[in-house]
Amino acid sequence: MNSVLEKNFPLSEFLTSIVWNGELYYPRDNSRYQATYFKPARLDEIQNAWRKTLDLIRCGRAPADIGLYIHWPFCPSHCDFCACSMAVPRNENEMRDGLFSILKELDAFSEIFGGYPFSSLWMGGGTPTFMTDAQLNALFSHIRDSFSFSQKAQIYVEASPATLTDSKLDILVKYGVNRITLGIQSLSDLVIKGANRQGQSREKVLGIFQKLRNFPGLVIDVDMMIGIAGQSRLDFLQDMADVLRFRPHILHVYSFDDRPQVPWSKQGGRVSKQQRGEHEIILTAADRLALRAGYAQQHDDGVHPILYPWEEKQDGGLRKFRASVLGIGPSAISHAFGSAWYTHPPLTQKNDSEVLPFFWMKANIEEEMRGYAIWYLSQTGRLSRRGFLDLFNIDVMETPLAAILNSWEKDGKALINDDFVFLRDMRDLADREVMLKDLYSKEITRALISQWSSEMRAFNHSLPSKAKWREKVFQQNSVPGFRVYHDGRFWRGL
Ligand SMILES: C[S@@+](CC[C@H](N)C(=O)[O-])C[C@H]1O[C@@H](n2cnc3c(N)ncnc32)[C@H](O)[C@@H]1O
Ligand code: SF4
Repeated sequence: MNSVLEKNFPLSEFLTSIVWNGELYYPRDNSRYQATYFKPARLDEIQNAWRKTLDLIRCGRAPADIGLYIHWPFCPSHCDFCACSMAVPRNENEMRDGLFSILKELDAFSEIFGGYPFSSLWMGGGTPTFMTDAQLNALFSHIRDSFSFSQKAQIYVEASPATLTDSKLDILVKYGVNRITLGIQSLSDLVIKGANRQGQSREKVLGIFQKLRNFPGLVIDVDMMIGIAGQSRLDFLQDMADVLRFRPHILHVYSFDDRPQVPWSKQGGRVSKQQRGEHEIILTAADRLALRAGYAQQHDDGVHPILYPWEEKQDGGLRKFRASVLGIGPSAISHAFGSAWYTHPPLTQKNDSEVLPFFWMKANIEEEMRGYAIWYLSQTGRLSRRGFLDLFNIDVMETPLAAILNSWEKDGKALINDDFVFLRDMRDLADREVMLKDLYSKEITRALISQWSSEMRAFNHSLPSKAKWREKVFQQNSVPGFRVYHDGRFWRGL
């Protein structure tokens, strides 16, 4: 590394600056955290990575859970508020080719798993129910023919009111789907139309609610959003009261996140501080509404690592507990425990191969430990030694991480007792991020530096002031509010 730069701008601070660009040690969600330092990989390398993970599982050194994630990127229109990795197909061929490449990728892995019972299937997007009946049938029958699922597996599909027809609902149930998310966002026709969300109306949503009553075995999640252009406080709260009358098992309320890829943001829109405050007020009112209707939010019991409600959805739980995920389709992220992380580019990047290109970062058990510790310390400010021991069969204080944790304690930055490693001060996000970078392995640090070397040269010419840098890190970390309410009939907390 350039020594002048090193002197003026210490490595840890440089790495933290990468957080400005949405980088994390391991990616959690492709739309927010693009893992730019991944290297191209061949299919056989990825296949071998999975063989290694299966070996680790067999000898009890990796969590037994493996989830299958399938990303269907297509939607009928691009909603103005949407941050997801999606595309509107220009013609039927695009959907046909998209399905073909998913089927090919499934084929490339089915033999390796040889009947291994997956613990979940999550089909997300985009809008999986935008597939034609024939495509939905073909995909599900292919999955059922090539992969096995445990008896209790959650088979979960994202649906939208514009695309969930009677026949598609029948197909989903026929193939054992036991949980769906109905993305409603708003019940106001004006708001929906203004957001270019084609094919949805209040009448259609209420009709679907009625139909879903015929499937009592199906767990129903509903997604709603606060802060869509043209939506008032009253609009949202009235919509929410109507949705609660239908009594979904789980209700997710997102406040609008103006990430750069959102069409509204691309047209220059920014959520002001005042608007963000308004969203928070609405969320507080939503809490009261949910409570009165008998819904609750799940809280950490403070002792054991638990799954937070916002992580419970989809395969967030598997990722949190470091279990493995086989991701198929554009922008899907995969985690082969103890072996590799990899991703596919989003659909927009043209490729001519039958199986989508892979970009990977090799892992091993020590990298898993580092990623696990960084995740807990950054998200909750503490690391449960029991949780760590349960996963890795070793106390964190007997691992290579101990030297760093001890040095933090010596410097007064952390407190270590028999149960937890606590960060002493969670308030200064910038300092916290810098500190956590101590946990990065040399290999990852090297990869980051080489990936970002041109940025580093740019920094060399115009080093940002510390105050500016803190402000940026703070912005990066101030995530819009988000709630999950559940009525207690269904809770998958691990
Ligand atoms: C992967 S999207 C797909 C859902 C499905 N296609 C639909 O529209 O119903 C999942 C959820 O993310 C939420 N979402 C999408 N863009 C968002 C944004 N910019 N800010 C906050 N939430 C967002 C929406 O509530 C949406 O239902
Ligand atoms: S909100 Fe759903 S339907 Fe709308 S563009 Fe995003 S993924 Fe597609």
